[in-house]
Amino acid sequence: MERHEFLAKLGIGVAAACTGCSIVGCGSKVSDPTPGNGGNNPPTGGNGNLLSVNLNSELQSVGSSKVSNGVILVRLAAGAAASAFTAVQVSCTHEGSSINYNNALGLFICPNHGSEFSTTGAVLQGPAATALKKYTVNVVDNTLTVTA
Ligand code: FES
Repeated sequence: MERHEFLAKLGIGVAAACTGCSIVGCGSKVSDPTPGNGGNNPPTGGNGNLLSVNLNSELQSVGSSKVSNGVILVRLAAGAAASAFTAVQVSCTHEGSSINYNNALGLFICPNHGSEFSTTGAVLQGPAATALKKYTVNVVDNTLTVTA
């Protein structure tokens, strides 16, 4: 094979590969990347009750959490007072990934792009630009409920 034949074939191959990248890059982008518009709507709870927990058997250690109905409930302190807990939407307001609670840091962190939220849902670090929805926690006779 002559050198110019080899280069010509290589050029065609590279062009085809780049075209493929371009098609995949444009064609696979189906979600709206706008910060704060991650295509996730926080749960509203038709009857208002999103989550119930028996505190005699669940969430007994500080930092423990439970996810249900699009809500993450976390124990922040000891005791059975409602103020010992926080409940926020579990889906990140950036692009909808499920956030985790980091007990050592005392904040929520999104594993996808690293957004951080306070225990009240406020944005501490982007790329998320919108706060997490915070829910109401009530405790009666060691039964905790989270409502919209
Ligand atoms: S999905 Fe991007 S930071 Fe959470």
